[in-house]
Amino acid sequence: MSGGRIVAAVLAPHPPHLVYAENPPQNEPRAECGWEELRMGYERLRRALEPLRPEVLVVLSPHWQTYIGTHFLGVPRFESLSVDPVFPNLFRYRYALDVDVPLAEAICARAEAAGLVTKMMRNPDFRVDYGTLVSCHLTRPAWDLPVVGISSCRATAYYGADVMQEQALALGRATREAIEASGKRCVLLASNSLSHRHFTTEPAIPEDMSQERITSHAQYLWDMHVLDLLRSGQTRRLWGEMRELVEQAVAEADAGALSWLLAATEFPDAPCEIYAYGSVIGTGNAVAAWLEPAPGAAEEATP
Ligand SMILES: [Fe+2]
Repeated sequence: MSGGRIVAAVLAPHPPHLVYAENPPQNEPRAECGWEELRMGYERLRRALEPLRPEVLVVLSPHWQTYIGTHFLGVPRFESLSVDPVFPNLFRYRYALDVDVPLAEAICARAEAAGLVTKMMRNPDFRVDYGTLVSCHLTRPAWDLPVVGISSCRATAYYGADVMQEQALALGRATREAIEASGKRCVLLASNSLSHRHFTTEPAIPEDMSQERITSHAQYLWDMHVLDLLRSGQTRRLWGEMRELVEQAVAEADAGALSWLLAATEFPDAPCEIYAYGSVIGTGNAVAAWLEPAPGAAEEATP
């Protein structure tokens, strides 16, 4: 097989509010509307991904927290009800998710060979976390592609952001190499918000947008700084500032998903496309992506 590659690297935040506001049939609670800018950004992202003919979604989620090593979903299909522990009023979601087990095993094996502690998760009754589900739903609501699910081993909490980044480097390389060897066209999803300080109470009507705003100007400034770095392709600088970002903006990048994304794509210096930025219960969220040119785009561009 040949031609395996990362066709898109996406920052794909997972506030359950966005699924709630879309009213998909899988989700029990009903919403009037809400968080349109982010939802429309995801819509534009979906349209941009379509011509790239992706075959697999590879997602790293902060809400699958494994305390000994990095784990990978390792059962061909999971079906269950996911209830968000913090927002059960917004997210009670019936899912059926197919897993690309061979690709998950290949990434796992390469990560282990690189020195990481790894494990394939073989429990068929395992409940997939809502971070994985929300990012995948918003990227591909049809659920017609298999998924590789990767956990976060919380190295930032146990050791520090530097250790997290070292591990993300190894995991990113392993991911890239396994994808290239697989022959498959993959979309990587870093499932995280940027600044992550949130309000501790929600309005009576969760989708009341007159109540939605970033928690503080300091958080907003960090988010805008990250967007500037992404838009100008300064990914190595972003990598170097990750520790400050995590500490000062309480960024959900602490889980390692964004670092893994940068490492797997070998620190792109091309401008990242920002599809949307918006707050959800006070957290800062960007939908952003590096996409490879669509097949045929180069020829079309030639007069
Ligand atoms: Fe989260």
